[in-house]
Amino acid sequence: MKILTILGARPQFIKAGSVSREIRRQKAEGRRLKEVIVHTGQHYDANMSDVFFEQMHIPKPDYYLGIGGKSHGAMTGQMIEKIEEVCLKEKPDWVMVYGDTNSTLAGAIVASKLHIKLAHVEAGLRSFNMKMPEEINRILTDRVSDVLFCPTATAVENLKNEGYFIEEEGRRKKVEGFGKVVNVGDVMQDGAMFYKQFAKQPPTFNFQPSTYILCTIHRAENTDDEKRLKDIFAALNEIAKDKQVILPLHPRTKKILDELQIDTSNLTIIEPVGYLEMVWLIDNCALVMTDSGGLQKEAYFFEKPCITLRDETEWVELVKNGFNTLVGADYEKILKAYQTNSEFKAKGLNLYGGGRASEYIIKEFLEQ
Ligand code: UD1
Ligand code: UDP
Repeated sequence: MKILTILGARPQFIKAGSVSREIRRQKAEGRRLKEVIVHTGQHYDANMSDVFFEQMHIPKPDYYLGIGGKSHGAMTGQMIEKIEEVCLKEKPDWVMVYGDTNSTLAGAIVASKLHIKLAHVEAGLRSFNMKMPEEINRILTDRVSDVLFCPTATAVENLKNEGYFIEEEGRRKKVEGFGKVVNVGDVMQDGAMFYKQFAKQPPTFNFQPSTYILCTIHRAENTDDEKRLKDIFAALNEIAKDKQVILPLHPRTKKILDELQIDTSNLTIIEPVGYLEMVWLIDNCALVMTDSGGLQKEAYFFEKPCITLRDETEWVELVKNGFNTLVGADYEKILKAYQTNSEFKAKGLNLYGGGRASEYIIKEFLEQ
């Protein structure tokens, strides 16, 4: 069975890293699996791309398309053209896409139009905010997928509400014209659990465990809205007077902070770090403040309180169970949440399946 994996952005390297490792493990046990990796080039700096391949031992991409740093239309369009060429040449049995980026959507469009079976990892998530490019990408990808690998019960429920399946006498019944919905748990938990043992302290900084806040900001809805971005950084600067705020800075955000000359003087800004350094930073921080999707869950995996600088989240179970506080970009709300979020509210829940998602994904492929 030939699986063509499409990836291009940082969180996809991290997600695909675990699934790719499972493919290699199953191959070593004699299963007939072949993975062909296509890197679209959406993220291209060494610390946004190469470092993850090295640290997670992901095989070098078979195809590197070099399409990054463009508008949505140009990026997605050029990816579609190139991925189509690769698919026509490779004739895979499956195309596998991850998450909700432009690389995801491009892969989904090509596979569905060429009638190649499509698997979507991290299916069914919804923010219900159609202004987010990610929401558009994930809804369209889900709709044309043959297998939808959901990370949570909420994701399954979202798909049910959209008519992907019906329940009869407690059993899930597929609806004609929609893909198969499978809850496998979250692949990011696989990575977090496996790579914790290899976590590395970032070399140039002397961080004292549990004395700092780990922060990341990159979402379009924050970076592309001057007021939101200024309010967030004003609040972070204020908080940093009390506790060190370490911010590995996404290149998108760096560009805009420079352009708008936003004050970051109290923050410890560092270059984006590799996954092993990031795992160390999460595991040793006191608190996470972020607008990242992945980091919200990682905070939970490492039992750290999390303040999310967004108006809504796809990971609603974290908010519902008190692990995550949504504050948007409101200065006062951010400061208040900081003052009241010093502890992880342990509840002994297993919200993301326990770290075997990659295994369940490959099992599903082998049963097809
Ligand atoms: C993309 C995804 C977002 C995901 C994020 C993960 C879409 C629509 N968005 O957002 O869902 O959360 O990746 O990080 O697909 N840049 C560099 N070097 C790089 C990468 C990016 O300089 O290696 C700069 C470029 O100026 C680029 C900008 O960042 O134009 C934005 O990159 P892009 O991939 O378009 O979107 P992200 O904000 O990274
Ligand atoms: N991450 C990393 N280095 C960094 C910042 C983030 O390895 O400097 C990891 C983070 O731990 C998580 C993933 O990147 O595993 C999240 O990616 P990102 O926030 O870019 O995207 P999102 O999850 O919001 O789509």
